[in-house]
Amino acid sequence: MKLCLLLLVAPLVSGSVTLIEDDLVPIGASISLPRSTRPILSRLSYSHKEKDNWGNALEKDRKKITIRSSKNDHDDISDDFLWAMKKANHGGLVHLEKGKKYVIGKKLDLTFLKDVYVKLDGELKFTNDIKYWQANNFYYDFQKSITFWVWGGKDIKIYGSGVINGNGQAWWDGFSGAEILDPNNKYYRPILFLTDNATNVEVTGLHLKDSPCWTTFMVRTKNVVFDNIYIDAVSTNASSLPKNTDGFDSLNVDGLTVTNTRVNVGDDCFSPKPNTTNILVRNLWCNGTHGVSMGSIGQYAGVKDYISNAWIENVTLLNGQNGARLKAWAGPSVGYGYIDNITYKDIHIENTDNPVVLDQCYFNINETTCAAYPSKVNITNVNFLNIYGTSSGKEGRVVADLTCSPGATCSGIHLENINITSPAGSPPEIVCDNIQGDIGVECIPASEA
Ligand SMILES: *[C@@H]1O[C@H](CO)[C@@H](O)[C@H](O)[C@H]1NC(C)=O
Ligand SMILES: *[C@@H]1O[C@H](CO)[C@@H](O)[C@H](O)[C@H]1NC(C)=O
Ligand SMILES: *[C@@H]1O[C@H](CO)[C@@H](O)[C@H](O)[C@H]1NC(C)=O
Ligand SMILES: *[C@@H]1O[C@H](CO)[C@@H](O)[C@H](O)[C@H]1NC(C)=O
Ligand SMILES: *[C@@H]1O[C@H](CO)[C@@H](O)[C@H](O)[C@H]1NC(C)=O
Ligand SMILES: *[C@@H]1O[C@H](CO)[C@@H](O)[C@H](O)[C@H]1NC(C)=O
Ligand SMILES: *[C@@H]1O[C@H](CO)[C@@H](O)[C@H](O)[C@H]1NC(C)=O
Ligand SMILES: *[C@@H]1O[C@H](CO)[C@@H](O)[C@H](O)[C@H]1NC(C)=O
Ligand SMILES: *[C@@H]1O[C@H](CO)[C@@H](O)[C@H](O)[C@H]1NC(C)=O
Repeated sequence: MKLCLLLLVAPLVSGSVTLIEDDLVPIGASISLPRSTRPILSRLSYSHKEKDNWGNALEKDRKKITIRSSKNDHDDISDDFLWAMKKANHGGLVHLEKGKKYVIGKKLDLTFLKDVYVKLDGELKFTNDIKYWQANNFYYDFQKSITFWVWGGKDIKIYGSGVINGNGQAWWDGFSGAEILDPNNKYYRPILFLTDNATNVEVTGLHLKDSPCWTTFMVRTKNVVFDNIYIDAVSTNASSLPKNTDGFDSLNVDGLTVTNTRVNVGDDCFSPKPNTTNILVRNLWCNGTHGVSMGSIGQYAGVKDYISNAWIENVTLLNGQNGARLKAWAGPSVGYGYIDNITYKDIHIENTDNPVVLDQCYFNINETTCAAYPSKVNITNVNFLNIYGTSSGKEGRVVADLTCSPGATCSGIHLENINITSPAGSPPEIVCDNIQGDIGVECIPASEA
């Protein structure tokens, strides 16, 4: 084996060992082997190595790859990064160092991964060459999504104190009202982080900054965990707001966990989309968002979508359009499906237009059309427990609006310990329509609100 031959030339001293492999190593890159793989020492400590939660080697036992950093925002190191990911695949680690910037200016296919760590302490920053990225990206039919790169494979950890920077300002400035759900929109903007066909993904400690569009999107993925993440998308141009910069989105995902995370964006904070199951959210803080939402689902004609088994606990939602929300599409050519077994518990909401809302007239359709073509998404077994705070008063005294579609079943909806006040007056009102059974609190039909 090539590796063994190389090891013979490695000096037997403590500290890292730098090797020059026989194939081309990019300028400024290095590969260092862990202590434990060196001869002699390895024989002593071979048997009882500790493993990570997936049974793979710990950081200290991994081969470490570094690459040169960028000299400026146009100094593209994407080839070096791709080289490093290939070198680190199957048990290694890529380290992007603190205080250094790594600029990505080319689309990257990272779907070949198997047991790899990326320790990101520096900044990974995308170029803002809109022309390049609109011609070179990975495209998904679902809401016409594009992305800079795709992460896929198995056992992928990305962690550290660093930043992934989408450099979104230029994208927002050029946006001029081209919402992603606008059927005429051709101005596609990339998603900052996307997994596809991945199993076991862990992202920890990072700052995900200024995404041009959605911040994260997980597709066909199983077991993905985000912990201790900070997401923001803040414009320096008052006339171009960072639209559609959702914190977390998903499609065909089983096992989605977000914990100890803060999100400061102008769209959904957390919003699993079709076919997301086994969701856990705990200790989440959202500011200025469209809320923690189940959906939207039921968008595409004839397609069945579902979301089930979600536990959402200890969430703070400030200054938003929505708080705890469920959303499903209605209209002449939409899909169907269900949202089932969802719990919102200990949710603190302040200054929010719709603190609790079930919206089955998504997206942008009027009452007449919604009544003529009601949503066919069933909503069952949804708990809202201990929800407190204030609305913005925009909806008058209404602090919770649960208007179910006449075209679907709504049952097992349970509210308990709700204390949301409205600056528009008291008592606050809870609206309920078309729900089977008692919802646990006093409520009035929409026509009386
Ligand atoms: C998904 O990834 C696995 C390996 O992890 C691969 O064998 C399979 O072909 C991939 N599926 C698709 C649809 O890309
Ligand atoms: C701010 O955004 C507006 C609207 O998108 C755009 O026309 C303008 O050029 C932007 N200003 C700067 C300084 O980029
Ligand atoms: C709830 O989440 C906040 C962060 O938003 C955190 O500071 C607090 O410790 C959490 N509370 C509990 C009981 O975990
Ligand atoms: C929360 O968002 C508002 C705008 O919606 C902003 O003015 C404020 O600075 C944000 N607060 C924090 C702590 O980020
Ligand atoms: C959701 O899963 C169903 C199969 O249960 C599939 O038919 C449908 O296409 C999926 N929805 C989306 C948007 O992928
Ligand atoms: C409902 O979801 C929770 C997770 O929030 C899960 O533990 C429980 O098993 C689910 N119940 C059913 C009946 O599937
Ligand atoms: C919605 O509920 C109705 C009535 O209970 C049921 O017939 C239908 O199959 C359900 N639809 C889905 C997609 O589960
Ligand atoms: C509702 O929307 C439909 C479809 O866009 C339109 O034809 C209709 O005139 C609208 N009705 C009202 C009352 O605005
Ligand atoms: C509801 O919350 C307000 C503060 O927002 C508090 O003064 C009041 O005691 C609470 N009511 C109940 C029943 O907990």
